[in-house]
Amino acid sequence: MSGELILIVEDDAMLAQGLQDWLQFVGYRVQLASNGREALERLENVHPDIILADIIMPQMDGYQLFEAVRSRPELNAIPFLFLTGRAQKRDILIGKGLGADDYITKPWGPEELLTAIRVKLKRTKDIAFTQLQRAYKDSLTVLANAIEARDAYTRGHVERVSSYSVMIAREMEMDDDEVDEIELGAILHDIGKIHVHESILSKPGDLTPEEISEMRKHTEIGAFMVKDIPYLVPATPIIKYHHERYDGMGYPEGLSGEDIPLHARIMAIADLFDALTTLRSYHEALSPEEAVAYIQNEAGKHFDPKIVEVFVRAWQKHKDD
Ligand SMILES: [Fe+2]
Repeated sequence: MSGELILIVEDDAMLAQGLQDWLQFVGYRVQLASNGREALERLENVHPDIILADIIMPQMDGYQLFEAVRSRPELNAIPFLFLTGRAQKRDILIGKGLGADDYITKPWGPEELLTAIRVKLKRTKDIAFTQLQRAYKDSLTVLANAIEARDAYTRGHVERVSSYSVMIAREMEMDDDEVDEIELGAILHDIGKIHVHESILSKPGDLTPEEISEMRKHTEIGAFMVKDIPYLVPATPIIKYHHERYDGMGYPEGLSGEDIPLHARIMAIADLFDALTTLRSYHEALSPEEAVAYIQNEAGKHFDPKIVEVFVRAWQKHKDD
C-alpha cells in the first residue's frame, strides 16, 4: 500500500466515483475535482503525488489545467496524466508535445491504468532522487574544494581520507547507511577551517600558542556550521571529534577511549595516515609501510588499538587496489 495521493479531475461523476473506489481499493488516497477550476482551488491546500485529468470538462478543461499547473513553480513537478477519449489522442500528441506516458486512452482496463500511474510516479521519483543526489554531492564538493584551495598541501586529502575511512568501515562490516555517514563526515571533517585565517593555515613554521588555539577551533566551528542542516548532522561526530586522542590528550573536549564517537576514532586514523604519506610543509612524505608502522605504534596512545588492527588488516588487503 503506497498511500500516495491522487487528484482525479473528471466531470463524469459516475466515472470519477468508480475510479476513486478502485484506486482506494489498491491503496492510494484519492481526492476528486469535477473540473479544472475546482482542481486548482483544491491545489491551494493539497499537494497530490499525481494528477489524473479528463480533457473535456466545463469551466476549465484539462489542457488549461495542465498549463496552469505547469506555470506554477510549486506545482510543476507534479506528474500529470490525461485521461482521453480515443478521438482526442491525436490532438494531444500533436498539439501538446506530450510523451507516451502522459495520457491514457479511454476505455482503459484497471491494470492498464494502474501501470500507467505507477510508471509515472516512479519516473518522477527517480528524477527527483537523481537531482537531489547530484545537488547534494555538488554542494559537498564545492565546500571541500573551497577548504582545500586555502590549504595548498592538502590537495586530494578530502578524497583520500574519505576512501580510507570507508575502507575501515567496510572492514568492520558496517551497513551501507553507516558507511555513508562516515564518508560524509570524512568529506566535511575540516569544514570549520573556512573560518581559520589563511595566514595560519598556510604558515610554514611553528604556530604560536594563540595560532594553535585558533586552528583548534575548526572542530567546533565545523560542528556548529552543520547543526541545522538535517542531512549533514550525521557528519557531526567526525567533524567535532576527529582530533580527540584515545589517551585523552586530544581536543576539543579531551575525551578518551570509547567516549570518543566511533566514527571519529576511525576517521582519525585515516586522517593521520594521509597526512603522513603526503608531503607537508613540516615533513617529508613517509612510505605507506612506514606510516602503517607509525600508526601501529600509536595504538592505545593516539588511536583505538582495536581500530588500528582493523585498519592494518584492511590496508594489507587493499593496498594494491
Ligand atoms: Fe582537522
